[in-house]
Amino acid sequence: MLLRSAAIVVAAGSGARLGAGRPKAFVLLAGRPMAAWSLDALAAAGIPRVVVAVPPGHGAVAEEALGGAAGDFPLGFALVEGGETRSASVRNALAAAGDVDGVLVHDAARPLAAPELFMRTLAALERADAAIAAARVPDTVKEAGEDGLVVRTLDRSRLWAVQTPQAFRRAALEAALNVDASVLAQATDDASLVERAGGTVRVVESSPANFKVTTPHDLRVAELLLGERVRS
Ligand code: CTP
Ligand code: MG
Repeated sequence: MLLRSAAIVVAAGSGARLGAGRPKAFVLLAGRPMAAWSLDALAAAGIPRVVVAVPPGHGAVAEEALGGAAGDFPLGFALVEGGETRSASVRNALAAAGDVDGVLVHDAARPLAAPELFMRTLAALERADAAIAAARVPDTVKEAGEDGLVVRTLDRSRLWAVQTPQAFRRAALEAALNVDASVLAQATDDASLVERAGGTVRVVESSPANFKVTTPHDLRVAELLLGERVRS
């Protein structure tokens, strides 16, 4: 990949659904803060520069939990304050990403992402404005009305459950994020903003193993899988 790139790790959420009593990114998983697993994978993928968006007021906690990763990124490692919404956190981090053409955005809440997925996602930018990790949907998906009656069955072969990492040409991401706060607040992923702006978004096949830790159940599964990784 010819693009000079940096990664943004969004770690500024509160983790309300996990309910761990502290921001989700700092919850311990197999003995390490959740966000540290993603930083390891980014370093292993050779990403030279990383910016982490952390919860406002948690700078010292973040430095203590993640500061040790700084030496893994030759072109820099920065912690910045996140915003009210996920997209606002991305925007704050992008301002500190430095002089790069490609940006990988990743949720700290996906600690199982593998280095090769970061590399493949970035490489897929060659032929698109954005490239997004996504898994095929294993269940049949139906659309139903408010009355509970099924309206239609969707063609499963064309459905993708979207994850992170998501890679962007910097200019495309900047333009996509330059919208009203209300639009930003509604975006559940950054690629949807690029779609909205008319950009091309390419799917990169991933697996359900790269799930997002949202609930206590997810945390238990991630703990088991990462614990296995530590022991092997
Ligand atoms: N995130 C962020 N800034 C926000 C909100 C979310 O950086 N204002 C990040 C989270 O830290 C997480 C990712 O976006 O890594 C995905 O969000 P989600 O899983 O919803 O995490 P939380 O918002 O922390 O969880 P909850 O919605 O349960 O409070
Ligand atoms: Mg959230």
